[in-house]
Amino acid sequence: MDNTKEYLFEFKGYNFERSLVKMHIVRSADDFEIRDDHVFIVTYPKSGTVWTQQILSLIYFEGHRNRTEDIKTIDRAPFFEYNNHNLDFTKIPSPQIFSSHLPYYLVPKGLKNKKAKILYIYRNPKDVLVSFFHFSNWVARLKPSDTFENFMEMFLDGQVVGSRWFDHIKWYEHRHDFNILFMSYEDMKKDLRSAVLKICRFLEKQLSEEVVDTVVNQATFQNMKTNPQANYHDIIKYEIGTRSDKGHFLRKGTIGDWKHHFTVEQNERFDQIFQRETKDIPLKFIWDINEE
Ligand code: A3P
Repeated sequence: MDNTKEYLFEFKGYNFERSLVKMHIVRSADDFEIRDDHVFIVTYPKSGTVWTQQILSLIYFEGHRNRTEDIKTIDRAPFFEYNNHNLDFTKIPSPQIFSSHLPYYLVPKGLKNKKAKILYIYRNPKDVLVSFFHFSNWVARLKPSDTFENFMEMFLDGQVVGSRWFDHIKWYEHRHDFNILFMSYEDMKKDLRSAVLKICRFLEKQLSEEVVDTVVNQATFQNMKTNPQANYHDIIKYEIGTRSDKGHFLRKGTIGDWKHHFTVEQNERFDQIFQRETKDIPLKFIWDINEE
């Protein structure tokens, strides 16, 4: 029997992780007071959320850069709709960073004041799918799939946390309603320093060359993987729960792992859907680590 509903909670056509979502926050999001200095990191799951949380924590907090404060990225840039640690959002001092997987139509209306900033990170959806497949089989609160094909069906059908990737990317069509910067995971991966500088310009944060170097250095995959403040290991293991000891939140962190998972037929099918669904979205997608 299909047990998808044990894992997902659907609200206004969008699927949340059932046991973790704070529905009172989602239902009252319209009234959530947005301040001009709020920054929202918005992503579809598995697109580089934790990476961006670390980058913004490093940009904004000196105590994060020099590790004098022991605060995890999830508390520096808490998830809005999941609010895992039940923070009182009204009491967090500026700068206040939020992370969210919400679609454009469920975020606080105050974001349309165009003063608060949104950083939307997108990733090529084949690598998203692969990352999501492994993550779902590792984390106990997500529905596992015995085959990649089964997970692909669920992903294309939107029967996963975050619903359909092809719907989430429609944030782009609504970009004029928000003060939003679109950046790709792949651009961050290929040239992290340029990506950090671009983010700093958007955030209107001027950092010295030396500080930029520190941010870049501490945001690399290798350094994040071994940094408990940033690698989510304890949160997943002790708060969320896993099905095995084998997985890692920071799994491969690369571009093009999809080539090791998709069959030729799956790839052709995916390409057809991608072309049809994104024909009005002129964002650049990078599918291969060697692509310019
Ligand atoms: P993989 O599973 O492909 O390795 P999210 O935070 O949105 O859930 O995204 C998780 C994905 O981002 C994982 O992808 C993870 O490895 C990758 N990631 C996290 N930090 C990264 C970094 N510093 N560099 C590259 N990829 C990173």
